[in-house]
Amino acid sequence: MAASTMTSSQPLADQGATAPGVVGATALQHARREFAGAPLYADCASQGLLSIAALEAAVVEMEYQTKGEQRHAARAEIFQNVRSLFAQLIGAEADEIAITRNVSEGLNAILHGFPWAQGDNVIVCPGIEHQAALACVLGLRSRGIEIRSAVAADGVRLDFTALELLVDTSTRMIVVSHVSFLPGLCCNLEDLSLRCRERGIFLLVDAAQSAGLLEIDVRKSPVGALCAPSGKGLLGLPGCGFLYCSQQWSERIRPIYISSTGLANQLLHVQTLADGVTFAAGSARFHLGTPNWVSLASLQVALTQLIAVGPRIIEMHVIGLARALSKAFQTLGYSVRAGTPGEARSHIVSLGMRSDIADNQLVDEKLSSLALALKRGGVRFSVRRGMIRFSFHLYNDLSDVQSIMDISSRGITAGK
Ligand SMILES: Cc1ncc(COP(=O)(O)O)c(C=O)c1O
Repeated sequence: MAASTMTSSQPLADQGATAPGVVGATALQHARREFAGAPLYADCASQGLLSIAALEAAVVEMEYQTKGEQRHAARAEIFQNVRSLFAQLIGAEADEIAITRNVSEGLNAILHGFPWAQGDNVIVCPGIEHQAALACVLGLRSRGIEIRSAVAADGVRLDFTALELLVDTSTRMIVVSHVSFLPGLCCNLEDLSLRCRERGIFLLVDAAQSAGLLEIDVRKSPVGALCAPSGKGLLGLPGCGFLYCSQQWSERIRPIYISSTGLANQLLHVQTLADGVTFAAGSARFHLGTPNWVSLASLQVALTQLIAVGPRIIEMHVIGLARALSKAFQTLGYSVRAGTPGEARSHIVSLGMRSDIADNQLVDEKLSSLALALKRGGVRFSVRRGMIRFSFHLYNDLSDVQSIMDISSRGITAGK
């Protein structure tokens, strides 16, 4: 997106960036034109950019309301379409998808609707999980479910051996982020989900940092359920989310909140109330009343754009950018905790060491002066737990990486 003035002696393409092929490059180029562009935006881990077409779809939806038009049939179609599009993105069936408000709603639906028995336990790795997921899991304690904490390797990496040591015959569930919010390491979902399936353990995945960015295929990675938000990698407005729950499980999970939109027969009357409720088939049982129509309208466009490029091409592209940036920062002497070749790769690059301080604060002097130079140079990134975090999407390209490195190099020279 940004104009490039490459100063590093080694071309970035040689520093580890992968190429998604000619067809992929054309699709990406086409998609990039859809973004008006915040220049040097490298922060989709906080919030993805909205494309011009997705913005227009949201505005159109709002305009209908200014005219008092109620579009029941059209909205119902958008709703089903969005379910189908997300299903397509992750290799699921549309009726395995519920539309939620956010990740927390999806996680809670599973955690509290799950058929727990006395003495059961759940395993989580607090070192890598976002506070949103941890809060949801902690809610189980009051229900008498034992919560077991796995230690993260080096404080940041999911360690299968540590997880396995905690598993026993009462372990019913493992909760894990596909990509950690910090430093952004990706766990091998295929391997983990197959191991869980072998042992009859339900794998609940927080895909807040991977959906729309990394390829997810629930046919190859048989997770129990997976949750994603609309406003990050899926490039929609915030206010919506998805809950995928596998066919094998959805009907064994009893929704905690009951809404007519989650029932088989939505036209309740006094007689049905006396008989009790019958939940809708599949994941539709988790639907909770009126959705956010504006967010759904923009999401329909955004998901169509992501599918047009293809998850594999997006994944190769963003991992290539992250790898190029991490290598370049390593050359400048920074400690890079994600994005480096050989590490569990994602679209995120994090600099520094994690410490549990408030968001948007840095204690390390070298990182603080780098952050200042980046801000002055117009780079958009985030600061989490004492680390600088960059995250890429399809609208970024190598010129963004080059510009970030130019600004960083100039900042270092000026600081000497
Ligand atoms: C890994 C992860 N999970 C969950 C969330 C947020 O969850 P929610 O959509 O419930 O706000 C975030 C937000 O940054 C995240 O990074």
